[in-house]
Amino acid sequence: EPPGWAEYADVVVVGSGIAGLTTALEARKAGRVLLVTKTRLSAGSTAWAQGGIAAALGPEDSPEQHLRDTLLAGGGLCDEDAVRMLVTEGPSRVRELAALGTEFERADDGTIALTREGGHRRDRIAHAGGDATGREISRALIEALRAVQEDPGIEVIEHALVTDVLTDAAGRACGVTLHVIGEGRIDGVGAALGRAVVLATGGFGQVYASTTNPAVSTGDGLAVALRAGAQIVDVEFVQFHPTVLWLGRTAKGQQPLISEAVRGEGAHLRDVEGRRFMLDRHELAELAPRDVVAKGVVTAMAETGADHVWLDARHLGGEFLAERFPTIVARCRSFGIDPATDLVPVAPAQHYASGGVRTDQRGRTTVPGLYACGEVSWTGVHGANRLASNSLLEGLVWGHRIAIDLAESLVDVPGPEPVERDGESGLLDAEALPFIQSAMTAGAGVLRSAWSLGTLRARLDQLGRERSSTVPTPGAWEATNVHTVAATLERHATLREETRGGHWREDFPVRDDDRWRGHLVSTVDPDGV
Ligand code: SIN
Repeated sequence: EPPGWAEYADVVVVGSGIAGLTTALEARKAGRVLLVTKTRLSAGSTAWAQGGIAAALGPEDSPEQHLRDTLLAGGGLCDEDAVRMLVTEGPSRVRELAALGTEFERADDGTIALTREGGHRRDRIAHAGGDATGREISRALIEALRAVQEDPGIEVIEHALVTDVLTDAAGRACGVTLHVIGEGRIDGVGAALGRAVVLATGGFGQVYASTTNPAVSTGDGLAVALRAGAQIVDVEFVQFHPTVLWLGRTAKGQQPLISEAVRGEGAHLRDVEGRRFMLDRHELAELAPRDVVAKGVVTAMAETGADHVWLDARHLGGEFLAERFPTIVARCRSFGIDPATDLVPVAPAQHYASGGVRTDQRGRTTVPGLYACGEVSWTGVHGANRLASNSLLEGLVWGHRIAIDLAESLVDVPGPEPVERDGESGLLDAEALPFIQSAMTAGAGVLRSAWSLGTLRARLDQLGRERSSTVPTPGAWEATNVHTVAATLERHATLREETRGGHWREDFPVRDDDRWRGHLVSTVDPDGV
């Protein structure tokens, strides 16, 4: 369907989590900004973040120690220069976020209060509203965005699903096509055009049957970047959060997260027989890096034949829990569980994509004019397993870096002149989505093997053949994007014959630095040749 309308700006930002909002606010230095987002400004993963944002802000801490913990969690695949930028620029960016209006919790001396999460050897997690850090950050950034009235301002289009990246005759990104479901001036299929495009669309949790991610996280940015010819790196490294409230085998879609900060404050993990199984698995026990804890939980479940383990926070006391973790306590209570008196059933669920669209230190992808920021991107900071609470930080630090690059480079870039595109092909119908999700959970979940991945591949091929569609509805685009991400992930996971970070192969159970201390990169020719 050709675009029925076009909106113009200097910079088009797609997505409204911490990455998109930060980039949009800062990119005003480069010109007029058009921010498009799939549903509401506040709907993405950022607002669901509980634990917090990591930065070496404490007197006992230093960027060097944050660097060390990040590299260790990343399983040998972090880009050390990128991590150094993250940890050295991080403290200033977090202070700026506080100055912008984010109400982080404060210690008695007025400094930002810090807690601990898995893989951190220091208290360095800034948090807000107890366990509602993401909601508070999102609120402050959206308020800052709404306050920006002066020229150049930021125009916002909500309910806009990105369907593709547009390029000019020189192959430079100059806009995106959108499917807008609106009631106002803009509706239907159109285009947002600019001299640069920033993808900040978040992750792809909805590729799996159960995830902590909201319904909007269908990997759209990754899929459109791939269709535009951008390189995708290390998507096999999927982080499964070890402590997601277990609501039974049939629970599907977004599941309630029980923040790692609960373990940071002293809660324990026990198998269904009451044994603290993490004690003999890692020196940091329940606060080992997330991949280690997820593996410990899955192993404990297999050993006891149970479909969950217990999180035991009873010794922390009802008063403390209610004050420090109001969201979590309320959510548990809504399911009849009181963490002050009950053991909380938990199991791993998909949580974060450590890989993504390859960018450099200025957020530039391998397609000229196309940037990526936040979870959709691969900057090199997460390696094979992201360190807890480094993701909000990455969005902040790289959003800032992208804005600097835009301010320096856009003056020489001509106005957008997209080349005509052929009609869409290869769409799947919306009903394919749950089938892809079940196949992914079975085939490329926490534990994978050549057999499970082969079965997954056959199923994805079959769904691609049997569920094709020619009707480009938003649901069809989402199912198509999920299928694209799933197929790319399966290929990566099949190729990487080792176990490292968020990639656990039953048939190759050890880390193999001789063969696999490198990255897997996918790309497709945008002309489909
Ligand atoms: C959590 O609160 O456990 C999640 C933190 C994160 O994913 O970084």
